[in-house]
Formats: sequence, C-alpha cells, structure tokens
Amino acid sequence: MTYNWLETLQVSEEKLKSNAKKTPVLYIAAQDCTGCAMSLIVSNEPSASSTLLDFISLEYSDLLSTSSGFQVEGNKEAIIEKYKGEYILCVEGSIAGCDDFLRIAGKSVKDDIIHAAKHAKAVVAVGSCSSWGGIAAAAPNPTGAVPVTEILPEGTPIALVPGCPPIAEVILGTILHVHFHGELPELDKKLRPKMFYSTSVHNSCPRKPFFLTKQFAETYNDEGFKNGWCLFKLGCKGPTTFNACETIGWNGSICSPIGSGNACIGCSEKGFWDHRNGLSGGK
Ligand code: SF4
Ligand code: F3S
Repeated sequence: MTYNWLETLQVSEEKLKSNAKKTPVLYIAAQDCTGCAMSLIVSNEPSASSTLLDFISLEYSDLLSTSSGFQVEGNKEAIIEKYKGEYILCVEGSIAGCDDFLRIAGKSVKDDIIHAAKHAKAVVAVGSCSSWGGIAAAAPNPTGAVPVTEILPEGTPIALVPGCPPIAEVILGTILHVHFHGELPELDKKLRPKMFYSTSVHNSCPRKPFFLTKQFAETYNDEGFKNGWCLFKLGCKGPTTFNACETIGWNGSICSPIGSGNACIGCSEKGFWDHRNGLSGGK
C-alpha cells in the first residue's frame, strides 16, 4: 500500500502552503534502547529531513543533538520557558521506579519529564516502553519501570504510539497532526491514534487468505512457509495486535516483520515482552 501522509492527516494544500511557524519539539529519552529515535529518522512520508526542516524544530534530543553536555541540557530548560504551552514533548523509554536508575546531568529524568509535560501542548509517548513499560518492565522488572502515563497527572493531553520500535510515519504523523491541527489526533480507549491503530495486523496481512483457507506453515522451513502460508501455528500474534505494519510498514512500505517471513510477536501491545509468543523462548 502507498501511504499518503497528507491524506491520512487531512492536511489540505492550503494548510500546507500556509505552514509558516515550526512547532518546537522536546524529545526526552528515559529507559530506552534509542530504537524509536532510530526508527523516526528513516521516515519516508514525509521524510525526516523535510519534517525537521519544514514543520518541527527539534529543540532537545540527547541522542540527535549535535551538541552535548551543558549546552544541550541548559537549552532544555530555556526552551520550556520560551515556548510554554506551544511545544510537543516526546518521551521515549519507560520511567524507572527509583531515580537512582536514571539521571541525566545529575538530574532525575522522571522529574524532568513531569516538569516538561506540565507546560507542553501535547505529549507523545513514543514506543512500547514509554506506552506500556515495555522491555524494561518485563519480569522481574529490576528497575520498577512504569509507563509515562503513570507519572503524569490525569488529564495530560497524551497519545501513546506503541511499537518496538513504532513505525516512523506513525510517530511523525502523530506529531504532525498536532503541528497542523493544533491538537492530538482522535485516540482510542488505550490512547492510541485511531488513524494508525484501529486495524489489526492480521486484518491487513498478505497471508490472511491462507488463514481463511486454514493453510498454515508448521515450521519456518516447510513447504507451507515457502508458499507464503499463514504463520498462526508458529505463534503469530497478528490477530490480537493493532498496528499499521501491513498497511504503512517500513522503508516506504516495502518491508514489515511478516513480509520478511516472521510471525508478529505483538510488539506494540500492552504486556510485550512478557506476553510475546514463544519464538524466542518467551512465555
Ligand atoms: Fe494473521 Fe499472522 Fe496469519 Fe498473517 S501470518 S494471516 S497476521 S495469523
Ligand atoms: Fe511489532 Fe507485530 Fe508489527 S511484531 S512491528 S506489531 S508485525
């Protein structure tokens, strides 16, 4: 499928032409692997470079900033003051239950996020760790990791963009909706943007015809697998996983986990990693 971001986000030609002021974005990383930020920078629709040059001003990112140390940390507070109520706060990673696990420049990252969220126009929880706790919160959860929603007050305007990592276009689409429309897109009951998370991976899977005719691969090397049959018997979680992997996908819609020959392990659902399928020895 060819994804058209302007259509999905309902950005008219007029709106695009009148785009003048860039929206400031702060991107704070908590307990993460940086995979979400890596995913974000390979966006095609729109490209990450176009997003950065035309629509948003990435004012703080400890991973993507060219400067470091006091320069970049000092800028974070200055930006919060300067753009109160105007900036988008993105949070990648789960929040450690104890500050001893996570400090940057001697400061509690948890307190930094609470402070930045207080003055943000909108908060975007980027990735499954930030949305649900993710890998850091997997048993035995040594750091007492929690999702970002657990440290923010009720009523904080927040969208969850789960995935391990999330699709680049989904992260940027959520941010750009705020940029163009001044608010988060419509969310489902789990606070995920409906425009990206309302269809199961199974529903748009190219192997679904084989599911319907009950033609299943039994191993990763049998004839059924080679014929592109359904991976359900190999533990595929596509039927219970809501994400845009088989509609938007990665790298200009040319790849996805199932498209690459793997069953879905439900990386964008609550409870991942503990509740993934048994492919890697999980529960
Ligand atoms: Fe559904 Fe998975 Fe089979 Fe695709 S491979 S049809 S998502 S069960
Ligand atoms: Fe994750 Fe399944 Fe998509 S493993 S990337 S939700 S196909």
